[in-house]
Amino acid sequence: MSIRSPFLAAILLGAAVSNVLAYEGDLKRGRMYYRQVCTACHQAGGKTIAPNEKTKAEWAAYIKADKHDKTGKSNPSVKYFTTKPYRESIKASNKVAEKLLNVPDQELYTDLQAWVQYSAKDSDNPSGCN
Ligand code: HEC
Repeated sequence: MSIRSPFLAAILLGAAVSNVLAYEGDLKRGRMYYRQVCTACHQAGGKTIAPNEKTKAEWAAYIKADKHDKTGKSNPSVKYFTTKPYRESIKASNKVAEKLLNVPDQELYTDLQAWVQYSAKDSDNPSGCN
């Protein structure tokens, strides 16, 4: 295919570059992981923690701090719960962890962030746990 329009060429190049530079996250995958992995554990512990309990800014600060659980009852890092070693450790009993086992850590963490931002308290689509 030859590209005659410099305008179109610029768009295509821009898209290619931004794909490499900034992975923006896969909302569906983030939602699936949040619901089937994060929420599953919270519910098992008798608590629900929904995306709409925090604002976008609160989620951003929470992710940046990477302090999962102040009570010390579980792993102190949020990021840890999206890593391959964690997925590996639960894959026998968790279908989503098994299905997403080989997604690169950074990608899955970005997916998760995309989902909590998308469904935060002050977003256009506030969402509960399920
Ligand atoms: C192994 C079980 C487990 C997994 C997996 C888990 N959590 Fe948690 N999480 C907890 C526990 C326990 C608490 C503390 C609940 C309490 O306050 O009693 C908690 C608390 C939280 C809180 C509230 C902390 C605060 O200060 O606002 C958030 C937010 C949270 N988890 C997000 C996540 C996310 C996002 C994931 C998935 C990437 C995740 N958790 C995975 C067990 C888990």
